[in-house]
Amino acid sequence: MSDKRQKIRKTFLTAAASDYRDGGLNFPMTRCVTDYLVQEHQELSLLLNELQEQLGVLRLTRDRRKTADRLAGLRRKIAEATHTHVVEEEQILYPALQEHVQGIAFTLDRMRHEHVAGEQAEKTFHQSLDRLLQGAGNPHEVMQSGRQYVIWLRHHLLDENGRLFPMVERGLDPSIQQAVRHAMEEMSQESSARVSEGQTFAAHA
Ligand SMILES: [Fe+2]
Ligand SMILES: [Fe+2]
Repeated sequence: MSDKRQKIRKTFLTAAASDYRDGGLNFPMTRCVTDYLVQEHQELSLLLNELQEQLGVLRLTRDRRKTADRLAGLRRKIAEATHTHVVEEEQILYPALQEHVQGIAFTLDRMRHEHVAGEQAEKTFHQSLDRLLQGAGNPHEVMQSGRQYVIWLRHHLLDENGRLFPMVERGLDPSIQQAVRHAMEEMSQESSARVSEGQTFAAHA
């Protein structure tokens, strides 16, 4: 187990063992985890709106090169946001749920499978856009694979909002939720620091 995961695990155990656990009456149910994740879902959803719009433009425009470049910028933003989000869920949220919520294993398995299916949809879209950027692809293929990618992401966001998040609010007590949120925020900051380092590095390369 990595240092990071050990640290996260220790945070959960400490929180679980603390007096907070007996303080359910003093600490009302919180949405601190789901508020945070719903916010990320909304940001992703806005990026998906832009992607859908640009995919529509691709069909009509004469200047395909310009639209393809815009699509390339958008896919990078969406991929970065999605990957950070999925890592927060798979490495922090799901293990916490597995440890503290009974009968959730099936739902978590389904969510993990959706992530894997999404990676495949993303890969197919990226490959067809790459071909277009190299001048060899066809816009119809990009539109189709782009739409599949958008459909997957939207379906998954709705599935989590509707099925998983109520289980988070009901099943994780406030002290665990605070520890989970803190760990996710830390992970997100680390990952955006890595992205901007990468960008700086790329700019100087
Ligand atoms: Fe997810
Ligand atoms: Fe999510």
